[in-house]
Formats: sequence, structure tokens, C-alpha cells
Amino acid sequence: QVSWKLADHPTLPKGKTLALIVLDGWGEYKPDEYNCIHVAQTPTMDSLKQGAPEKWRLIRAHGKAVGLPTEDDMGNSEVGHNALGAGRIFAQGAKLVDIALASGKIYEGEGFKYISECFEKGTLHLIGLLSDGGVHSRLDQLQLLLKGASERGAKRIRVHILTDGRDVLDGSSVAFVETLESDLAKLRENGVDARIASGGGRMYVTMDRYENDWDVVKRGWDAQVRGEAPHKFANAVEAVKKLRENANDQYLPPFVIVDENEKAVGPIEDGDAVVTFNFRADRMVMLAKALEHQDFDKFDRVKVPKIHYAGMLQYDGELKLPGHYLVSPPEIDRTSGEYLVHNGVRTFACSETVKFGHVTFFWNGNRSGYFNPEMEEYAEIPSDVGITFNVQPKMKALEIGEKARDAILSRKFDQVRVNIPNGDMVGHTGDIQATVVACKAADEAVKMIIDAIEQVGGIYVVTADHGNAEDMVKRNKSGQPLYDKSGKLQILTSHTCQPVPIAIGGPGLAAGVRFRNDVPDGGLANVAATVMNLHGYVAPNDYEPTLIEVVNN
Ligand code: 3PG
Ligand code: CO
Repeated sequence: QVSWKLADHPTLPKGKTLALIVLDGWGEYKPDEYNCIHVAQTPTMDSLKQGAPEKWRLIRAHGKAVGLPTEDDMGNSEVGHNALGAGRIFAQGAKLVDIALASGKIYEGEGFKYISECFEKGTLHLIGLLSDGGVHSRLDQLQLLLKGASERGAKRIRVHILTDGRDVLDGSSVAFVETLESDLAKLRENGVDARIASGGGRMYVTMDRYENDWDVVKRGWDAQVRGEAPHKFANAVEAVKKLRENANDQYLPPFVIVDENEKAVGPIEDGDAVVTFNFRADRMVMLAKALEHQDFDKFDRVKVPKIHYAGMLQYDGELKLPGHYLVSPPEIDRTSGEYLVHNGVRTFACSETVKFGHVTFFWNGNRSGYFNPEMEEYAEIPSDVGITFNVQPKMKALEIGEKARDAILSRKFDQVRVNIPNGDMVGHTGDIQATVVACKAADEAVKMIIDAIEQVGGIYVVTADHGNAEDMVKRNKSGQPLYDKSGKLQILTSHTCQPVPIAIGGPGLAAGVRFRNDVPDGGLANVAATVMNLHGYVAPNDYEPTLIEVVNN
């Protein structure tokens, strides 16, 4: 039985409107020409940094601070928002899958038993992101699963690949496909009929999120399930090399691998097993719905094979989606949002579609929906569809700012929480000029929200979920930009391992509130207790410590 009542903070008052602003992909890094935040005009964020030193600091947003396996793991939005919302550090999907594979427990679970029922007569299909980015999936986990499944009776295996170029360098897809092909060749030597069956770039095929554009999932479905695609190739390395002539890894068009009779080698059929091997939820939920829901109506599936489907993880605990999974997800319970709602804090959360689930679903511990609809309102601003965001780098920052401003001025909410996506979404395109425009737009949205907070005498907390726009090039150990063999600068489309800023302020911030200096390693998970304090409460004992203290002078 959870006791939801939070203790009153000894000195800090309740009832101040608090704006909680998460800049997506906004880290702190040395100022040079590849630091788009530095290059951009960001007067609002600059003034927070240059203001009172006890009201601005850096916090950790990558590696173990957010529950990832190693300090080399860059941060990402899922683990970042999980930590921000939950106030504690949970071992995340990446790590849980590592542990389950290393111990072999993955093969003893219900999920693996369920799919292995099809091994005798059917094909095992593995669908997921092919890279070592470690954000949604990892190649080494796929390799272990291929080996483990074939040793446990899978005789026919088809891999449906999604090329990355977003969490890893663009162009790296070729080497990942070559590696996978050589692994599959070894399986074939051992009598397993194992092949790549289809593919496509993650942003164009399958991996949409938050129901932004179902066509993305449909393109994948047609290739993976029906064996239909505009491009047909005899082998996947050739496919990726050829299609890269007109698109980057993120946006490769769908293709299927065909035999000498031009027949697709691996459509999904009745009696087959399917595993989506991404551990991260957001970009697998839509496919999981298409694979699992009887009454699915988002696009015409044409063919709905009777399969045994399991996710690497269960992607949505509330929806129990999918019903079967290989590894149990982190149990992120008692999140700050749930506590605050129980204690009467009325909450408004907002972003545009591509990040909407970040400030709701991820924030609430990978849980869909409201805790209490009477206390909460979540507003989604439709994202532009069918474009890459370097074309529209301002995205919906202004609209998010306006929505938040109106929510603050309405005085109907105690917490107004937003995610401002620009630094991240445009940073992922690798377009430096556009990312500079993106950072400026994000800064303007922050100003709009802070101005509203000034008007109502409230408090603001501005932070970020992980780095991205502050460094747009791959670098050597001493920080020098790296060039490829042809002398071209290696653009970094991915997130970074940099820390992120956090700033507090506003007329409602009680006198004497400042950042403590005894939590030097503070990270995103320390923000929840901090915010609870600013709402006038003490955080539960097992939350990571607050970043603030109140000094009387
Ligand atoms: C994506 O899914 O867009 C990237 O892999 C990670 O970005 P995010 O963690 O910022 O969403
Ligand atoms: Co990102």
C-alpha cells in the first residue's frame, strides 16, 4: 500500500505556479562553430547561465546516472524523461536485456517459450533497428538472440532490418549489414536457413512514434509482412549501398530481398514467430499494435497472419502491449507526477506530437493516460508530417510556448510542463545551419514561458533531457573534429554524453533558495525531488536527493 501523502516542506510555500521546461537535446559543451547552441542567438538561456551562480548548474544526463549500462552510453529521451519524472535511477531496457542474455534467463521466460512453439514448423522473424547506438536496440543483443534462438531450435530465421544513421553516424549502415550478413552466413553453415528479408530507413519505415504518421508503419508492414516493396534486391548489402545513392541511412526507402524468381524470401506467414528486438518503447508501439490488435484500423494490413508475437520488452505497461515479451521492463512506479496529483498539484503537460509522449508517457514511467483526469490536462500540438525537420527548424516551438503561456495565465494549473523539441529533432538531421535556427526558436519559447511566470509570480525550472545540438561533429579524444577518408567532416547526428543545464528562478522562488553544493554528481533523477520542494513538499525518502537548499540570511 503506497502512502501518497507527501510531507510539507519545512519552509517552502505551496501554490506557486511552476513551469517545468525540458529542452530536448540541449547539452553544455565548449563554444566552437559546431556548438549550435553557442552559435545561435539564445539570450534567454544565456541570461540564466550568466545570472546568479547559485541558480544555474550542470547535471548528468547519460550513462549510469540515467540507468544505462556504461558511462559510454549517451543519454536519450526515454531514459532522460524516465529519470526526470521518476526521481530515481532504474536499470533501463538496454541493461535489463544485457543481463537476461548474459544469464540465459531470457530463454527461460514465458515470452521465449511462446515464440519457440513456432520453431518446428514456422519461421522466426526478427524486426528492429540495426546499429550499436544503444538507444532503441543493440547489434550485439541481436547477435546473441540469433545464436540463442538457433541453438534452441529455430531452423528458419528472417531478419527485417531498419537502418539507423540517427543514433550512430550516417553511412554506418553498410558495415552493420555486412556484419549481420556474415553472422547469418555462419548460421547457414550450421544448417539454419537464416537471411535478411527486408529493410528500410528507420525514419521512413516502421519506426514512427506517437501516431505521427501511420504511413511509416504501413511501408514497413508491406515489406515485412506482405513481402511487397518498391525496391527488390538479391542481397541486403547491395540494397543499402544502392539506395544510399539517393537517401541517407535514416530515410532509406523500403526494400525486400528476393530469390532468383523475384519472390520475396521472407514475408510473415501463418504459424510464424515474430520478435521486435528493440527494447525502447516509443518507436515500436505502433508496429506492436498492428501486429497484435485484432481490430486494428490505422491502415489496411491486407494480410493478417496468425503469429506468435513477442516484444523484446513489454512496451506499454498500461496497455499491456505487447502481451508477450522476452524481458520484463523496468518497473517504474511511484513517479513524481502520480505523487503530485495525489497531493493536489494540478498539472498541464504539452509538446508537439513527436515529443508528446516524452512529457507524458515517459515522464509517467512508460504509462499511458492520466493518473487523474480531473487534475491533469495533456495537450498535443500536431507536428508537421512528411518533412525532415531541418526544413522547418522552428517546428512548433512558438505554439508550445503559447499553449504553456495560456495554461500559466489561466491559473488553472500548479505545474505546467513542456518539452521543446527543436535542439534534438533538428540536431538529428545533422544540418548545422538549421540546428542553429532551431536553438534560437527553442530559446524564444523559453522566454515566452518565463515571461508568463513573471506575470503570475511563479517559479520556473529549465533543464534538458540529454545533449545533442551543442555538438554536431564526431571528435577524437582531445576534442578535435574528425574527417572521413575523403576529407569530409564527420557530422554527429546522435545525442552526446555532455551534461545539461538546470536553472531555477522566477518571482515566486522563495528568498534563500539555491543549489546545494554537496550533490556534485547530481543528475536528471535529482530533479523530481527538487520540483517537489518547489511545490512545497518533501520528496519520498527513496527519491534521489533534491538539488536545492534554503538558506536564511
Ligand atoms: C529517436 O528516436 O529519435 C532517437 O533515436 C533518439 O532521440 P530521443 O531519445 O531524443 O527521442
Ligand atoms: Co533525440
